[in-house]
Amino acid sequence: MRRAMAVFVTRRIPAEGLRVLAEAGGCRVQQWDSEEPVPRPQLLAGVAGKQGLLCLLSDRIDREVLDAAGPSLKVISTMSVGFDHLALDEIKKRGIRVGYTPDVLTDATAELSVALLLATCRRLPEAIEQVKNGGWTTWKPLWMCGYGLSNSTVGIIGLGRIGQAVARRLKPFGVKNFLYTGSHPKPESAAEFQATFVPLTRLAEESDVVVVTCALTPDTQGMCNKDFFSRMKKTSVFINTSRGAVVNQEDLYDALVSGQIAGAGLDVTTPEPLPTDHPLLSLKNCVILPHVGSATYATRTTMSVLAADNLLAGLRGERMPHELLL
Ligand code: DGY
Repeated sequence: MRRAMAVFVTRRIPAEGLRVLAEAGGCRVQQWDSEEPVPRPQLLAGVAGKQGLLCLLSDRIDREVLDAAGPSLKVISTMSVGFDHLALDEIKKRGIRVGYTPDVLTDATAELSVALLLATCRRLPEAIEQVKNGGWTTWKPLWMCGYGLSNSTVGIIGLGRIGQAVARRLKPFGVKNFLYTGSHPKPESAAEFQATFVPLTRLAEESDVVVVTCALTPDTQGMCNKDFFSRMKKTSVFINTSRGAVVNQEDLYDALVSGQIAGAGLDVTTPEPLPTDHPLLSLKNCVILPHVGSATYATRTTMSVLAADNLLAGLRGERMPHELLL
């Protein structure tokens, strides 16, 4: 970097990521140094005149933010694999480069997806609650039963990096069939699991467990809706670790309340955080986590370093480790 580049970091991130920026010669960092999201006015003020922006999935980077930044903004680096919070059309129009953090969170997110799947299928939160509230009176043959994976059919919506990593982890549990759906068949990825590419409707009808790991796009928004849930079996479980907006939550609520499906495990919701009085939180057969798919210390550290490396490479006009090609 020939002259100092000004950068705005929208949150407190792991120290390792910040150190990469601090140690890069000629990078002036301004940071919203808090665990809580930067309020909109401070975001707009913070980004003004900066060349680089390091943001999180909870920051909506739209035309207003880009206008506030002005023409100096050259690079946006998001510490996330998802990029639905970025107004890509507008970003592209302005010639701004975008970095993101795929791969490094695949294992952690797949692991969490499996943990949530098992917790939901085997009703772990409910069972733990029974231990605490005295509901555990004796061993009962018909009590606290759920669903296992042995001989099951698992349907994966989005057989990308995370979808494949989930399937790889589920296979040893004795899953009999893997189905998957998406914009197109992926025979090379599917071969490892002998997974069959099917339309969404067939995946809903035949799966014992549905796992959503696709990106949120205009095509996937609201895709898991009334029609989808009405095709699922009453004994089936629905898991979402991608983005909340892939699901129509009112339709999911109805499906859970009416017994149309057996249960749901969600690591992502709309909105986030989900208000504590949200109807979904009143349901025993719905397990909700606070978007912690990638939340291991090591993964978050690696994400922050990668986000910093992307940002610096972009500012230097070099190849980014992970650039989102617009
Ligand atoms: C992402 O990175 O997009 C995940 O949702 C959180 O790590």
